[in-house]
Amino acid sequence: MSKFPKDFLWGGATAANQCEGAYNEDGKGLTGQDLTRKGWREAPTSEPTEDNLKLVGIDFYHRYKEDIRLFAEMGFKVFRLSIAWARIFPNGDEQEPNEAGLAFYDDVFDECLKYGIEPLVTLSHYEMPLHLTRTYDGWRSRQVIDFFERYVQTVFKRYKGKVNYWLTFNEINSISHVPFLSGGINTPKEQLTKQDIYQAIHHELVASARAVRACHEIDSQAKIGCMILGVPVYPLTPEPKDVLKALATERENFFFSDVQVRGYYPSYSKRLFKENNIDLTITQQDLADLKHTVDFISFSYYMSVCESADPTKEAGEGNIIGGIPNPYLKASDWGWQIDPEGLRYYLNCLYDRYQKPVFIVENGLGAVDELITLPDGTKTVNDDYRINYMNDHLVQVEEAIEDGVEIMGYTSWGCIDLISFTTAEIKKRYGMIYVDRNQDGSGSLDRYKKKSFHWYKEVIESNGASL
Ligand code: BG6
Repeated sequence: MSKFPKDFLWGGATAANQCEGAYNEDGKGLTGQDLTRKGWREAPTSEPTEDNLKLVGIDFYHRYKEDIRLFAEMGFKVFRLSIAWARIFPNGDEQEPNEAGLAFYDDVFDECLKYGIEPLVTLSHYEMPLHLTRTYDGWRSRQVIDFFERYVQTVFKRYKGKVNYWLTFNEINSISHVPFLSGGINTPKEQLTKQDIYQAIHHELVASARAVRACHEIDSQAKIGCMILGVPVYPLTPEPKDVLKALATERENFFFSDVQVRGYYPSYSKRLFKENNIDLTITQQDLADLKHTVDFISFSYYMSVCESADPTKEAGEGNIIGGIPNPYLKASDWGWQIDPEGLRYYLNCLYDRYQKPVFIVENGLGAVDELITLPDGTKTVNDDYRINYMNDHLVQVEEAIEDGVEIMGYTSWGCIDLISFTTAEIKKRYGMIYVDRNQDGSGSLDRYKKKSFHWYKEVIESNGASL
């Protein structure tokens, strides 16, 4: 019997820069993504280069109808996507929006609604207009708050009645790790002080709160949430020093949701700022703006990490925010530790902390897939490893529901193969739909249903009873 609520929002998630392609069509401006052909670890190029797979992505811009039809066939109730800010305001600081960009998302949302799929829209998913990065140094500038506000007011007004669920900034807590792509900050990471970073964070948090205010004012029916990179931090040992270190690291992440959910800076920030010589410029208006708090908390979840007070313990690979590997866990081919129970734990932590609905808006396994041809000529991928991963995680979601956590829904990451964020590869695939595109950029871009497509369809059809 299903333990999931009747209105549980099952679906999948993408981001504009990783799937749309059409990077310079219909008036779109450039973003940092157009210059990072190998992900965030490599310095950006000065111009877009052909070896950047994101420029074409999976050509969602021209094929969204086919893709949304496939999502509908799987039974999606919700589809998470992002609006590319630079399609709406190509430079970011114009007075008037680009009509062609607005019209594109109208068509995409209409297509979703045709099948009864709710769009869940991220306002900014690692894709600030490049002009704001180069001219204003991204979130380091207070002026960017006003540009963002103009952008969000434009889209809230335009899509009122079509979009009922919004997210402000994707993985807002990643900014100190990837300041260029997450914060639109042009100054190289090594030259940024903690003061610089936290001032930029403050601007982004105020911008997020102003988006919440605008959303509530413009469309009283819509709900808007924050989005954090969710990563449970376990102490590596029971040694109290490790426990305290884990608490401190965990707070570096909760800092963001604490402000976005509670509307003020957490008490522990005083000591954090003092010990790091951080003296923020915060106006009275900022403090008033921050009081506009989110309706729900969303997060990505791929892995947990361990923390230790012993400086000789080294961090392993991970989803931007890596950490010390856990000896009890196995890892994916990309070294991300697999921890389904960590998801239950994290859902409980968030709900205990905030008592607000939570939404899992990213989860999945990045793996190398092999496209095979069945005797009847059908092309598919036997991705049992992905099915097992998702099944194990969803069983823990079910447990969390039993624990009393109010969970709005689950959108699996990269429900259709797309270009990865950290390494900008296509060979790291998350989808339940295979896209024929190779690492060298070749391929027909045709779509094929993987085994997981049929599995997920059944999960949704049975509202989780088939898990
Ligand atoms: C999250 C991002 O960090 O993880 C996504 O929000 C990203 O944009 C996802 O794609 C998975 O990471 P990767 O590097 O495997 O694509």
